[in-house]
Amino acid sequence: MNKRTILTGDRPTGRLHVGHYIGSLQNRVKMQDECNQFIMIADMQALTDNFNNPQKVRDNILEVALDYLSVGIDPQKSTILIQSMIPELSELTMYYLNLVTLARLQRNPTVKTEIIQKGFEKGLPVGFLIYPVSQAADITAFKAELVPVGEDQLPMIEQTNEIVRRFNNTYNTNVLVECEAVFSQVKRLMGTDGGSKMGKSLNNAIYLSDSAEDVKKKVMGMMTDPNHLRIEDPGKVEGNSVFEYLEAFDGDNETLEELKNHYRKGGLGDVEVKKRLISVLEEFLSPIRERRNQFEQKPEEVMTILREGSKKAQLVAAQTLEEVKAAMTINYF
Ligand code: TRP
Repeated sequence: MNKRTILTGDRPTGRLHVGHYIGSLQNRVKMQDECNQFIMIADMQALTDNFNNPQKVRDNILEVALDYLSVGIDPQKSTILIQSMIPELSELTMYYLNLVTLARLQRNPTVKTEIIQKGFEKGLPVGFLIYPVSQAADITAFKAELVPVGEDQLPMIEQTNEIVRRFNNTYNTNVLVECEAVFSQVKRLMGTDGGSKMGKSLNNAIYLSDSAEDVKKKVMGMMTDPNHLRIEDPGKVEGNSVFEYLEAFDGDNETLEELKNHYRKGGLGDVEVKKRLISVLEEFLSPIRERRNQFEQKPEEVMTILREGSKKAQLVAAQTLEEVKAAMTINYF
C-alpha cells in the first residue's frame, strides 16, 4: 500500500515546549510509521518576521532539530529538512504569486492578525505578506496530502488549495495536489500562567530541554484556582493549569480522578498537586533530556541528518518543479 504524504514543520525561532509535544510532536512520532512524513524547519518563513535577527534563526535550527530527535522523531522514517536548502521552494513561490491577488492575501485572517501583533501596520514587508504563498509552495512541492495544523493555520490550507486549483485550471493540468488539514484531537495546552496558549514569546512555557530544576521552579509558580486560598477551601479543577497538565501527562487516570475529587471537595493543597505534577513531568522529560544530551554531544551528526534530509527533500521538490514548468510550457531545454 502506498503511504500518504504528510508535511509538518516549525519556524526555528525558539526551542520547543511541552505544548508542542502535546499538540504536534507526539503525533509526528506516530505518523512517521503510517505516512511518508516530511518535517520542515521553516527558516525562510522565520526570517519573514526575524529578517533582522538571522543569528536567532540559525541558532534555533539546531535547537529544533535536537528537540525533534529527543522526542523520538527518527530520521530513518521521517525526512527532516531545512526550508532554505531547497531553492525549488522559492521558485515555485514566484510562479504561484502570479495566481494570487493582493486583496486575497490581505484578507487572510491569520496574516491580518499577525500584522497587528508584529507591529507591521505601518510598514509591511512584502515577504511577510506573501508567506502563505511560500507555505503553499512548501506543501505542494512535496505533494503533501495531509497537513496537521492548529486552527490558526487553517487559512493557509485554504489558500494553498485555492492556488492548487487555480494553477491546475490555468495550465490545464493536474500536477498539483490538494491537501487536507488534519486537526489535532487533543486540547491545546495552556501556559503556566493560566493563559489560553503556551507560547515561545509569552514566557509561560515548559521546554522539552528544561532542567529538572527549571521544571520544578516553573511548576511551583504555576497558576491554579485563584479562589483556592486555604487548603480546606474547595478548589476548581477546570481551567486550573496544574490539573490541565496532569490531564495531559499523567497516565494514571484513577489516581488523577481521586486527586481531582479531593481538590474539589477541599483539603488538598496546591503544593501537593504541584509535587505530583513535577514527578509526572520528570518521568516524561528525563528520557527526552537524556537523548537530547546525547545528540548535543555530536552536533555534526545532527547537522548531517539535516543535510541528508534536505538533499532527499530537494530531489522531490525538483521533480515537482519540473512538472510545474512543463505544465506552464516554460521547460525550454
Ligand atoms: N507555519 C508553520 C509554523 O508557523 C511552519 C510551516 C512552514 C509549515 N511551512 C509549512 C507547516 C508547511 C506545515 C506545512 O509553525
